Amino acid sequence: MSEKQLLSILEKLTLDQKIAQLQQLAGPFFEGASSQGQITGPMAAMGITDEVLTHTGSVLGVTGADEVIAIQNAHLRKNPHGIPLLFMADIVHGYKTIFPVPLAIGCSWDMELARKSAEIAAKEAAVSGVHVTFAPMVDLVRDPRWGRVMESTGEDPYLNSEFARAFVRGFQGEDLSADSDRVAACVKHFAAYGAAEGGRDYNTVDMSERQLREFYLPAYKAALDEGCEMVMTAFNTVDGIPASGNTRLMRDLLRTEWGFDGVLISDWGAVKELIAHGTAADEAEAGRRALAAGVDIEMMTTCYIGHLRAMVEQGVIEEALIDEAVLRILRLKQKLGLFESPLRGADPEREREIVLSGAHREAARELARKSCVLLKNEGGVLPLRPESRIALIGPFAKSGDILGPWSWMGSAEEAVPLYQGLAAYTDPARITVAEGCDVESGTPEQITQALEAARSADVIVLALGEHSGMSGEACSRADIRLPAPQLELVAALKALGKPMTAVLFNGRPLDLHGIIDEADAVLEAWFPGTEGGAAIADLLYGAENPSGRLTMSFPYSVGQVPVYYNYFNTGRPQDAPDAQVHYVSKYLDIPNEPLLPFGFGLSYTSFAYEEAALEGNTMTAGQPLTVSVRVTNTGAMPGEEVVQLYVRDFAGEVVRPVKELKAYKKIFLEPGESVKVTFTLSEEQLRYYHADLSHTSDAGEFAAFVGPNSRDTAELRFRLTK
Ligand code: IFM
Repeated sequence: MSEKQLLSILEKLTLDQKIAQLQQLAGPFFEGASSQGQITGPMAAMGITDEVLTHTGSVLGVTGADEVIAIQNAHLRKNPHGIPLLFMADIVHGYKTIFPVPLAIGCSWDMELARKSAEIAAKEAAVSGVHVTFAPMVDLVRDPRWGRVMESTGEDPYLNSEFARAFVRGFQGEDLSADSDRVAACVKHFAAYGAAEGGRDYNTVDMSERQLREFYLPAYKAALDEGCEMVMTAFNTVDGIPASGNTRLMRDLLRTEWGFDGVLISDWGAVKELIAHGTAADEAEAGRRALAAGVDIEMMTTCYIGHLRAMVEQGVIEEALIDEAVLRILRLKQKLGLFESPLRGADPEREREIVLSGAHREAARELARKSCVLLKNEGGVLPLRPESRIALIGPFAKSGDILGPWSWMGSAEEAVPLYQGLAAYTDPARITVAEGCDVESGTPEQITQALEAARSADVIVLALGEHSGMSGEACSRADIRLPAPQLELVAALKALGKPMTAVLFNGRPLDLHGIIDEADAVLEAWFPGTEGGAAIADLLYGAENPSGRLTMSFPYSVGQVPVYYNYFNTGRPQDAPDAQVHYVSKYLDIPNEPLLPFGFGLSYTSFAYEEAALEGNTMTAGQPLTVSVRVTNTGAMPGEEVVQLYVRDFAGEVVRPVKELKAYKKIFLEPGESVKVTFTLSEEQLRYYHADLSHTSDAGEFAAFVGPNSRDTAELRFRLTK
């Protein structure tokens, strides 16, 4: 369908019909939905009439080819203009084949696997009738109290941007119009949702525009540069104005400055929430503000359908604003080929073949292996020996609750629990299982059973963590240690003096005191997805060498958060040569440094970094520098290493981070193998937002740092001349 035809449809729509296109509703409202009957009450309360439903633009959260086909067909039988519905859903880290949570995927530092995970998620979702996924979530995160950190790839703007691009490429492919195995991506949550004060979900965000542009905006921009079709607003305020009604943020920055002309959707209920925020007196004002700010689709509240018509008639808003929003929605429907093929990829038979296929599970297992981070391994406790007798203890020993939040189509029954993974490597008779406690509670009897199981074993493997309801949306925690019963269990088992490995299932960086000191080895498995237990067993038994590296710092304690590697030095840094003992920026009771830094992760082998060098020590705009370092596998096992390059600008116009990631290379080395890793560092990479928001670099002194993580680096000085 041509643009001309879209315009002629638009012309035929009445004002009410146009406004209905801007409405998004959950599946049960629609004829053909499996749970249709249950919505009579709320539907009436929301003022959703049959007329509105006939012209509604999009559906939220319905999947399954049969149901989508039924709803779409019923809709098109009624809609006089032949305008199909758009089906949108949260396909965040897999559809039914669940991949590790995005924070874990971040730790793989592997863009190709990330892209592939999104491609598979798209394929499963598209065949099940989904047209748009509410992903990727690219909010930069620094506060592990926030439950949604598991949806982000971490605390670094550069790395988050790389992942944003990879996910969009995976979801949308090369040509969305030509490929019905892909879905349109919707980057979220615009903007800075990850900076909620105190880590409490939905809380206020307030920061300078410079900070916003430098740290928080790049990943959204990267997703859009990659062609991401949609944007979702954030629940929070930005500079005192809720994002969902923020004209400066969306009309001026997103639409005008960045040129985004795709569909902008509110988060669930976020338009009406302008009232609770205190920036709209009523639904009419909330609707007016959101539309003026550029929000095309209102998700699940009805400020638009309830009030826009009257406001147009009263001359309070221009109908042209509604027209432009409708046109964007029609264009997206057209791009997805829905006018010609309203069922698009939905195909019940193919759905049965593709979804959760062996190949998809294998990809999920591979990514889960790459996402786990080995945090400690003392005394060669790992890898496990197949002949060892294992006491597998903890609430996650046999649990399928390893998919994590936003895996609603995934099933715990389809997941491979840790026990099952281990039992594939050793005689199951060698594994004794005890729960030891539940995730949040425990009894003395459970501990007694765990001690009994452990006494007859050679090694203890602990399976600990947060259940999936402890992270995700509206799941902030003020205490980010493991629940007390699990820590008590660890302490009781420690007394036996047996080699002890802890495997952690969780959605946020934790305060690991009570685990990391007690256990000989710790493997951070996050929520590893459908193949989690199998992937962890691959690592624990050494079939593959752990290679994950943290993309979010693990705090020393919750009192330190937000704690992140790219901080500013302050005027009184602790390590200054002339620092006084007392009057420096510090805590009296804990170190400034996180327990585990950004970029950190161990391996079963060791890597030596030598000969760090710069080719020349003066950079100009047209003349980049080459930074190199020799990395040697000095251990006995093949392994992957993530070689990281950071920079520091010593005297900027505004303060600069003590380190900023600029590049990395993931390399694979056989034992004894050595490689010279080189990076090209250019003036462009030294640019930042100045006080006047210009994006330029400063002449002067810089450092380049190379190393295996953000802490243990070799420093090389150079100058930028202009
Ligand atoms: O996409 C989500 C969003 O991340 C949080 N609120 C609900 C939306 C739709 O499910």
